[in-house]
Amino acid sequence: MLKLTHLSKSFDSIKAVNDIDLEVKKGEIFGLLGPNGAGKTTVISMIAALLKPDAGKIYIDSLDLDTNLRKIKKMMGVVPQEMAFYEELTAKENLLFWGKLQGVSKKILDDRIRFYLEKTGLLGRENDPLKKYSGGMKRRINLIIGLIHQPKLLLLDEPTIGIDVQTRLNIYEIIKEASLQETTILLTTHNLQEAEELCHRIGIMDQGKILTEGTLKELIKIVGEKDIVLISGNFSADKGQKMLAPFKETSVISLEDGKIIMSLDASKKIPLLLQSFFKEGISIDDVSIKQPNLESVFLKLTGKELRE
Ligand SMILES: Nc1ncnc2c1ncn2[C@@H]1O[C@H](COP(=O)(O)OP(=O)(O)O)[C@@H](O)[C@H]1O
Ligand SMILES: [Mg+2]
Repeated sequence: MLKLTHLSKSFDSIKAVNDIDLEVKKGEIFGLLGPNGAGKTTVISMIAALLKPDAGKIYIDSLDLDTNLRKIKKMMGVVPQEMAFYEELTAKENLLFWGKLQGVSKKILDDRIRFYLEKTGLLGRENDPLKKYSGGMKRRINLIIGLIHQPKLLLLDEPTIGIDVQTRLNIYEIIKEASLQETTILLTTHNLQEAEELCHRIGIMDQGKILTEGTLKELIKIVGEKDIVLISGNFSADKGQKMLAPFKETSVISLEDGKIIMSLDASKKIPLLLQSFFKEGISIDDVSIKQPNLESVFLKLTGKELRE
């Protein structure tokens, strides 16, 4: 349904998106997971034809975006991170306006607006101007605008950022339901739990690259059976390296002054490792052990923690 080949975009010297390839199948919910600045929004903006790639190709339903823009725009729904509607107009007026703009007939539109307002718990509030809505309510309207013409491809840029748990779950439900209706969904997130719960497949993105992609199960295989362990304390990078040398089955992911991230069998190795630090008079501030999960996959691939 969606195919990206060698897609790149730079802003001055920043390679925001650096030669990425990606395929998303029909009806799939695909999540691009990455920290701020990874390049997620830039990818979405290029697919939405809001930003021109420096290089590479975008195909939607086997059509080249460059030469089929009008046709593709009709098939696509875009929900940007920022709200895109008229605050002075009511929810219903907004939905009517955006729906008509997408070419949906009045008759279908009335039913569909009612349907989505009910789904999102906003029925009864449709005649309030959006400026009176809470942040979470506005997000739901933003999502409905993207869905109103039942697009074949829905692009969601951080759909649940900064909203309450209840609205978040509500939005998950709507996204899942749209995918059951064969809408293909590409969403971005920097929330591990969101990627785990919602996405059929996940691409881990950092510094303009998709480092790997697959189902949660496939991704977890990358870390294997071993745990990811973070140790922080009063040691130099050099000293840390020396301390780790005798532990042959440990692979170091990142090592800097005061902090080591490594992959090892924690229950067997941690007591010995800590003992050897203590013997050298090194104080340890923190030890954290992460069992194989999406978080540890992210750590292993990027050497970074993904903070909310
Ligand atoms: N319009 C722009 N002008 C200059 N730099 C930009 C612009 N848009 C994005 N960038 C830079 O490109 C990189 C990727 O940004 P973005 O795609 O917004 O990342 P994300 O959505 O993953 O947080 C960042 O370093 C960001 O500062
Ligand atoms: Mg972004």
